[in-house]
Amino acid sequence: MTSAQRKDDHVRLAMEQNRAHSGHNQFDEVSFVHHALAGIDRPDVALATSFGGIQWQAPLYINAMTGGSAKTGDINRDLATAAAETGVAIASGSMSAYLKDPSCADTFRVLRTYNPDGFVMANINATASVDGARRAIDLLRADALQIHINTAQETPMPEGDRSFSSWAAQIERIVAGVEVPVIVKEVGNGLSRQTVLLLRELGVRVADLAGRGGTDFARIENGRREPADYAFLHDWGQSTAACLLDARGTGLPVLASGGVRHPLDVARSLALGARAVGVSGGFLRTLMDDGLSALVTQLSTWLDQLAALQTMLGARTPTDLARCDVLIHGTLREFCADRGID
Ligand code: FNR
Repeated sequence: MTSAQRKDDHVRLAMEQNRAHSGHNQFDEVSFVHHALAGIDRPDVALATSFGGIQWQAPLYINAMTGGSAKTGDINRDLATAAAETGVAIASGSMSAYLKDPSCADTFRVLRTYNPDGFVMANINATASVDGARRAIDLLRADALQIHINTAQETPMPEGDRSFSSWAAQIERIVAGVEVPVIVKEVGNGLSRQTVLLLRELGVRVADLAGRGGTDFARIENGRREPADYAFLHDWGQSTAACLLDARGTGLPVLASGGVRHPLDVARSLALGARAVGVSGGFLRTLMDDGLSALVTQLSTWLDQLAALQTMLGARTPTDLARCDVLIHGTLREFCADRGID
């Protein structure tokens, strides 16, 4: 199995999973208290956000996905075009393939070529060398570096990593060795409060909680096994809503991603303390099923509808949503009780 084939498999299996998903997740257990006179005027609403020394026009981004094969290079070109047209930030997929074999550089470089003035993040894993991290940043002229941590993906992955103990120290070395802000992210299993606190100690600038509820990589990797005998790892980890509640007050800015389905999930995430919200599988599905112009329309509509929600809820800025009254129901409420969260 080549790395290029693996990248194509990930896209295919993630899209099958996205189409089969029930549509429910723990974001459904977060609701805003409706205050009928809280509304403000649309011209007074702004979408800009800033966190950890980073400034974005909008609190929405296309999160890490792909690159490394001809087909995924075309996907990256289209994602970059959509990001450029709508002003949202974008991350590359893991650049390990490029670090091992620079002949696939163009499949990642398109993220910058087609989005020359946008905010671009380079994505690597926690075993990359400091030199590798710098090469990934240089190729994209990246504004930030994402390091993904994904033990529940590697474990069922037939060719996956089985040594995890060096990851924290390597993250610390990379943070000290690069010039751009470092964001550490999960891939859909969530970051616990304990992990977020450790990341802060390591000098990481921002944590992307990337929780359960959307793309499930343990399930994808199990689907690539023969036999598929790791089904017990499906749905591993904490939901994005649970991670947001768990990570409150750690002092590290957090981003929310994983299972974000529509602008209301974006508003819920911001209300629970996220500084911005990322989507992967859902945006890729729009691109694959309906094409580039549909993705551009979707991104613009989400931004417009987020501003509409802020107007109705009386939040001039995305950060103001964190002052709105929200109710936590059901299993998410039980999670809060178990974790001692008020
Ligand atoms: C991903 N994701 C991912 N994350 C990462 O850090 N590096 C990567 O290379 C990839 N690759 C990748 C491929 C595909 C096809 C998908 C759909 C996703 C994980 C992604 O960034 C995100 O954390 C999860 O997908 C959860 O978000 P969604 O998909 O539920 O919005």
